[in-house]
Amino acid sequence: MASLRSTPRYQFLLALQFVMLVQSTVWCYQYKVGDLDAWGLPTSANPQVYTKWSKYHSFKIGDSLLFLYPPSQDSVIQVTEQSYKDCNLKDPILYMNNGNSLFNFTAEGVFYFTSGEPGHCEKNQKLYIATGNGTAYSPSYGPSALPDSAPSYPTVFGSIPAPPSSSSPSQSVPVLIMAVIGLVVCALLGGNL
Ligand SMILES: *[C@@H]1O[C@H](CO)[C@@H](O)[C@H](O)[C@H]1NC(C)=O
Ligand SMILES: *[C@@H]1O[C@H](CO)[C@@H](O)[C@H](O)[C@H]1NC(C)=O
Repeated sequence: MASLRSTPRYQFLLALQFVMLVQSTVWCYQYKVGDLDAWGLPTSANPQVYTKWSKYHSFKIGDSLLFLYPPSQDSVIQVTEQSYKDCNLKDPILYMNNGNSLFNFTAEGVFYFTSGEPGHCEKNQKLYIATGNGTAYSPSYGPSALPDSAPSYPTVFGSIPAPPSSSSPSQSVPVLIMAVIGLVVCALLGGNL
């Protein structure tokens, strides 16, 4: 009887619990886009729902975005910044239409999404997400970070104007290791979510 605690199965469960705890608090998080159960046209009551939502969350490598929608009625595309501004649906970077689309952040940068349905982008069914290392989200960079051609994006990571070039090497290794560990943990758990 007393041997239960030493059985491999028990240890495995303990390890799994630990991993899930870590996963949910540190490594990766799955965000339901807009905190909504349906990715779709914003309602007139809240036309900026997606841009507001992304502005008040911060995202890092290993996190993922979950878009839920009826597959016959909508889709998700990842587009370039220019296509995002122009609502150009042609030649998306990524096209997902299975109704349960998970986008995994695997790099730092800015990611632009909209609906693949004609007309939806114009009605603000779109959002962009900047991923960073958790501390990079600095609104004070906003006004100077972007050329004045983009007045509608007030906040963006400070990485756009090249910073004085000396600072990153010492930090990039731990960040990379964390990203790799995070991705592995996320990938291991992916099947269980
Ligand atoms: C993200 O990861 C999940 C599970 O690991 C996978 O099912 C899904 O296809 C990935 N999404 C993309 C866009 O590659
Ligand atoms: C992480 O964020 C800090 C604060 O903005 C920044 O100085 C640093 O360069 C970032 N590190 C990496 C590897 O991007």
